[in-house]
Amino acid sequence: MIHSMSAAGYYESGALLAQYLLFHYGDAGEISPHAPAPPGSLEFPARCAALCIESTPESHRRRALDLGCAVGRAAFELTRACDEVLGIDFSKLFVDASQALKRDGRLPYRLPVEGDISLPSLARVPQGLRRDAARFERGDACDLRADIGSFGLVLMANLLDRLADPGACLARLPSLVEPGGTLVITTPCTWMSQFTPREKWLGGRLADGGPLRTGDALRDALAPHFEPVASQDMPFLIREHARKFQWSIALTTIWRRKG
Ligand SMILES: C[S@@+](CC[C@H](N)C(=O)[O-])C[C@H]1O[C@@H](n2cnc3c(N)ncnc32)[C@H](O)[C@@H]1O
Repeated sequence: MIHSMSAAGYYESGALLAQYLLFHYGDAGEISPHAPAPPGSLEFPARCAALCIESTPESHRRRALDLGCAVGRAAFELTRACDEVLGIDFSKLFVDASQALKRDGRLPYRLPVEGDISLPSLARVPQGLRRDAARFERGDACDLRADIGSFGLVLMANLLDRLADPGACLARLPSLVEPGGTLVITTPCTWMSQFTPREKWLGGRLADGGPLRTGDALRDALAPHFEPVASQDMPFLIREHARKFQWSIALTTIWRRKG
C-alpha cells in the first residue's frame, strides 16, 4: 500500500508519541492541569474497550484485534475479557512503545508543558490487565498480512480518516471478523488530504446525490456483510500542551458480522 511520506511519518515523531502516551495512560490532573476536562472526555481507549467487550458475545471473545492501536491501551484493556489480543499499528515508534509497555508495564516519557519545556512522566499499564495476552506488530490496515486469521472482535478507533485507502480497509473486514463477531468503528470524521487523497474520502464530501456523511457511507459499505447494532457519540480529549487540546466527538458504530 502506498502511503504519502507525510502521512507515513506523521506518527513517527517523539512529540506524537508523548501525546498518545498521555492520551492513553495519563490521569485527569496530568491531562488537564488548569481546568476540568469536558465531561466524559477522558479514558477514551478504556471506554472503547469496555464498549467492545459489552457488545461481544462471550463465545466470540477468543481473539480480538485492535487495528491502529497506537500505544496499546485499548488492546491491554481488551485482555480483561478476550483470551488473546493483537494490536496492529503502522508506526514503528508506537509499536515499539506498546511492546515496551507489555514487557515492563511502564514507560517513561516527557510531558509537553509549553514550548521547549517538558516534565518527566511515566505511562503505566493499569494493574490487573493480562499484558502477556496482548501482542503488538507493525502492519498496514489497508494491506494486512494474508495469514492473520479471523477475530471475534475488531476495534478500529479513530483510524479510518487517517488511512490512505479507507475503502480497502473496509473491504477486508468481512474476512477479518468471524460470523457472529463484532466490529466497532469510531471516527471523528476528520477527513484531510494529508492522510487520505480526497477521491478516497468515505464521507465529508459532496457526491452526486448531495452531501455524503461518513455514517451513511459506512452503512452503505458494510451493509452487505454486517448488521448495524448501535450507534453513539464518544467524546475524547487529546492534550497538545498544558493549555491546548483537541476536543473531538467520535461517531461510534457497532456492527455484527452476518452469517
Ligand atoms: C488517530 S490515531 C488513533 C489511535 C488509537 N486507536 C486511539 O484511539 O488512540 C491513528 C492511529 O492509526 C495508525 N495508522 C495510521 N495509518 C495506519 C495504517 N495504514 N495501518 C495501521 N495503522 C495506521 C497511526 O499510527 C495511529 O496510531
